[in-house]
Amino acid sequence: MRDTIFTRTPEFEVVAMTTEDCREASALHGQRFARGWNDGEFVSLLLQPSTFGFVARQTNALLFKPQLAGFVIASEAAGEAEILTISVQEKLGRAGLGWRLMQAAMREARSRGGQSMFLEVDDGNLAALGLYRKLGFEEAARRPAYYTDAEGRRSAALVMKRVLG
Ligand SMILES: CC(C)(COP(=O)(O)OP(=O)(O)OC[C@H]1O[C@@H](n2cnc3c(N)ncnc32)[C@H](O)[C@@H]1OP(=O)(O)O)[C@@H](O)C(=O)NCCC(=O)NCCS
Repeated sequence: MRDTIFTRTPEFEVVAMTTEDCREASALHGQRFARGWNDGEFVSLLLQPSTFGFVARQTNALLFKPQLAGFVIASEAAGEAEILTISVQEKLGRAGLGWRLMQAAMREARSRGGQSMFLEVDDGNLAALGLYRKLGFEEAARRPAYYTDAEGRRSAALVMKRVLG
């Protein structure tokens, strides 16, 4: 059957993040994390020479500029790269966007001379842990009782590492 506007499967592109994306990235970040970052914080982060980001947007939406589907921000300095934050719209979860954003960040880090990549994750964040393990990240350190949620529950932070081959 021919695709119609109602049956069309969404398609996404992953492109470099610019300061114009920061307002939407801040809004998405605020939906997905208890402590949000405002758009000014995103802009100043992105303007640092060691920092870069990617966004995912739908390419076959009816809107001229479809909503931001996800983004990642990372940094690279002296051979060491780090994922600073990553978020995907909850309704678009498990569609491969986190994977694609991470691949873009790893590729860019490598092209800037990054030899290894680090990230920090709450050990209760099963979606993120699943994504990072599938990408080949391994636990490098554990910081017990590092995070506190809204109910005062404590959880550990895992530092994960992957060699950028
Ligand atoms: C973590 C996050 C970025 C994953 O994005 P996503 O687009 O849903 O991930 P993908 O669809 O690319 O999934 C890739 C793999 O990650 C794992 N994964 C993703 N979501 C998962 C879930 N809910 N439970 C278990 N594993 C999951 C799976 O291994 C998956 O591969 P599979 O679908 O073939 O099994 C997304 O859940 C998110 O934005 N979470 C809120 C913000 C956050 O926690 N960021 C990370 C902070 S460290």
